[in-house]
Amino acid sequence: MKTAVIRRAHFNAAHRLNNPSWTEEKNRAVFGLCNLPNYHGHNYELEVRVAGEIDPETGMVVDLGWLADLIRDQIEIRFDHKNLNLDTEEFRNLNPTAENIAVVIWQILRAHLPAQLDLHVRLFETPRNFVEYPA
Ligand code: NI
Repeated sequence: MKTAVIRRAHFNAAHRLNNPSWTEEKNRAVFGLCNLPNYHGHNYELEVRVAGEIDPETGMVVDLGWLADLIRDQIEIRFDHKNLNLDTEEFRNLNPTAENIAVVIWQILRAHLPAQLDLHVRLFETPRNFVEYPA
């Protein structure tokens, strides 16, 4: 009876996509508006999916209150209203694309979840553009 529970969360953050080993022209061509030098914000919507067997004693896969607190403490407080490039250790040397942000969020949460639970992260950068990790 493997079942998934999903918690939605939200944070606002600024970023700039840039590859310092490229020319300004190539960065502009590849990253477009996300390369503008003075940063810009996104309203990130996060879906955290945890799957596993239903515990017969609790009737739950994972306590959603505990999961909500974990996401708040580990992700929202870390990234909300931050400039990802300048204000976070995680993206000081890692381009803060939606793909990389999703992988980082997965790595942070994975370290706090019991090993028998599967973890999947979906991150919306805009209502129409989102990424999933693992694929
Ligand atoms: Ni952007």
